[in-house]
Amino acid sequence: MQATLLYRSRLIIKAITPYITKEAKVLDIGCGNGVVSHELAKHFGCALTGTDPQSYLTTSIPFIKMLRDDQLPFEDGAFDVGMFIDTLHHASNEMQVKIILDALRVCKKLLIFEVKPSLLASVSDIILNRLNYAGTPVPCTFRNEQGWMDLFHENHITATARRIKKPIPFYPFSNYLFVLEKKQAS
Ligand SMILES: C[S@@+](CC[C@H](N)C(=O)[O-])C[C@H]1O[C@@H](n2cnc3c(N)ncnc32)[C@H](O)[C@@H]1O
Repeated sequence: MQATLLYRSRLIIKAITPYITKEAKVLDIGCGNGVVSHELAKHFGCALTGTDPQSYLTTSIPFIKMLRDDQLPFEDGAFDVGMFIDTLHHASNEMQVKIILDALRVCKKLLIFEVKPSLLASVSDIILNRLNYAGTPVPCTFRNEQGWMDLFHENHITATARRIKKPIPFYPFSNYLFVLEKKQAS
């Protein structure tokens, strides 16, 4: 389990490297047990805070619990970069929109790391969740790349999409990274 998380961390680090600096204040939204968060903070040397509606933490990262699923307990613009790492497919379609919009209130830039929908993605999500995140819903609200881009577009969010290169040829999942920016007031 730990080895899988560390392997995932390396994949995520590679994907988000262009967007994180040592000076950045980073918020990991839906940080879960904090293993990936801890690896990211260690690698980038940045100030990282985790937040989650549940308390699953097994690492010593700074953590503030969310009191509501659709609202972050932080001031406007409190962070340079926010991240949702394999988190949004645990929220209903309606909740995805609410929490993304609130994250854009709190973070200047938002990174969304998600997995492409597939039978394997759904089955492994159900099994891994039962083992590690009992109590978290598993609605499997995965979206394909266009589905995410449509959601952003419908909510007037500026986003770019990057497909992540598989770490090995037969790696069973396909991942995307979306980079969201707050729309400048005109
Ligand atoms: C599969 S875990 C991912 C944990 C971690 N990001 C990782 O990649 O290892 C999904 C996490 O999303 C959290 N979550 C579910 N709904 C959420 C919401 N509306 N806002 C923030 N986090 C949420 C769950 O409590 C859970 O800890």
